[in-house]
Amino acid sequence: MNENAQSTGQPRPMQPRMGEHGPALGQTLFEAVGGIDFFNDLVHRFYNRVWEDEVMRPMYPQDDREGAEWRLANFLGQYFGGPSEYSQRRGHPRLRMRHAPFRIDQDARERWLRHMTAALDELEVAPLHRAEMTDYFERAATAMINYNPAFQGPES
Ligand code: HEM
Repeated sequence: MNENAQSTGQPRPMQPRMGEHGPALGQTLFEAVGGIDFFNDLVHRFYNRVWEDEVMRPMYPQDDREGAEWRLANFLGQYFGGPSEYSQRRGHPRLRMRHAPFRIDQDARERWLRHMTAALDELEVAPLHRAEMTDYFERAATAMINYNPAFQGPES
């Protein structure tokens, strides 16, 4: 009898599929899409759009676009399995708390997502990774909404 999984009851040795950067198995999304260079590029394209958006731009630090790009790119890189640079410098993300100073309504959520999706569209990303990212962005952007005029009443 040959020594295969069925005869021995032992699991077969794994034969991970090989990806461009080594075995595909166990690879983080961060590595799969190209590491921090990818996230820097994505966020730069995202901010190019934010800076053209009359509703969003005023929310952002006008004199620190570079810092804002670093924070978002490194947060996203870390979230998707990259090094913990963001937390080392900024501490726990506490994203909802950090967004509390900005009025984020449904419209702002949609703008953020539209710019991020357009930035993603400019880059070559495998469909599976793209889906994982957009899924997270949609959930996170919903969680960031902190203003609903229907509940809060008209501005005084
Ligand atoms: C829903 C609409 C959103 C709006 C209007 C918004 C707006 C902002 C603004 C104005 C800042 C300050 C810029 C800075 O100084 O870094 C900021 C920071 C940040 N945002 Fe958002 N954001 C939104 C959604 C999101 C989402 C979905 C994520 C994550 C996927 C995110 C992640 C971050 C991060 C990591 C920072 C930097 C936090 C820090 O360390 O200070 N934001 N956001």
